Amino acid sequence: MHFELMTPRIYELGGRLPSDIRKFADMAACPDAYLPEDWKDPKSILKVLLGAEQCTIRMWSEVCYITIGKDPRTYDLAQRIVTEEVEHEASSWSCFMGGHRVIFDADSLERDHAPRNKPV
Ligand SMILES: [Fe+2]
Repeated sequence: MHFELMTPRIYELGGRLPSDIRKFADMAACPDAYLPEDWKDPKSILKVLLGAEQCTIRMWSEVCYITIGKDPRTYDLAQRIVTEEVEHEASSWSCFMGGHRVIFDADSLERDHAPRNKPV
């Protein structure tokens, strides 16, 4: 989702994506996430996911800081991404603290018993 959101902006600004996906991944501000050694412990996996969400929040917040007052369109896109990543982080924390089951989808993590668009 965020890839599709920001990629057109990169090209609008005259940039381009690397053609080598490994080189592209190596350029990422956040490291690749791997299963923890204790992968059978859900909390270990949630720690990895939480760390990934926090890294993306820091990275997109930096994009906001760089573009504020200079590039309103990129700032708006980055701000939208930060908002979504903060929601992801909150969902990860909720799972970590309460042991709630989560539904993984392409756009977000949500607690399965309290979806955002349905009454609780
Ligand atoms: Fe996320």
